[in-house]
Amino acid sequence: MPKSISTASAKQTMALGFRLAKQLKSGEVLALIGDLGSGKTTFVKGLAKGLGVKQPITSPTFVLLKVYPVTKHKAIKLFIHVDCYRVAGIELSKIGLDDYLGRPDCVVAIEWAEKIKQLPRHTHKILLAYDRRAGGRKIKFGQKSKKSSSLKISLMAVTGRK
Ligand SMILES: Nc1ncnc2c1ncn2[C@@H]1O[C@H](COP(=O)(O)OP(=O)(O)OP(=O)(O)O)[C@@H](O)[C@H]1O
Ligand SMILES: [Mg+2]
Repeated sequence: MPKSISTASAKQTMALGFRLAKQLKSGEVLALIGDLGSGKTTFVKGLAKGLGVKQPITSPTFVLLKVYPVTKHKAIKLFIHVDCYRVAGIELSKIGLDDYLGRPDCVVAIEWAEKIKQLPRHTHKILLAYDRRAGGRKIKFGQKSKKSSSLKISLMAVTGRK
């Protein structure tokens, strides 16, 4: 299994998010971690599209989170997009996620998740980094804890590569 996958354009990063959406079962929390402009929102846009979110995804500016209805999934009914860029280290309980975490019908994607003091144990990490090529990004999937392996999101399943 490759350690990371390279995308050559925003379109490819979106496509990766789209494919990940198809692997989601219910109640997953995804932490998107990467420098400014590394493609976190782009990935989230693909994810939302894959779940059948109809509204355009825009970065939450004055609010920390936005909630979108999901239309294309049996179990998942809401997609919650969080952006912690403007906060400087925050407790999970202060984000307003309490109503959504742990609910099987909600998927939560958090940009700048490293600013949250303690992420839920079952959080899946998605790391994005600039590649040497112009327009290139390297994207890595990881899990915060081994205990979360029941929520199988494998890079192989998302990329179709071994
Ligand atoms: N391979 C790529 N993957 C993702 N975005 C790319 C890629 N190549 C170029 N881009 C461009 O880089 C920018 C990434 O912006 P995006 O808002 O997704 O990043 P971000 O990590 O959410 O930024 P921020 O830290 O401000 O939240 C977009 O303008 C996008 O078109
Ligand atoms: Mg962003």
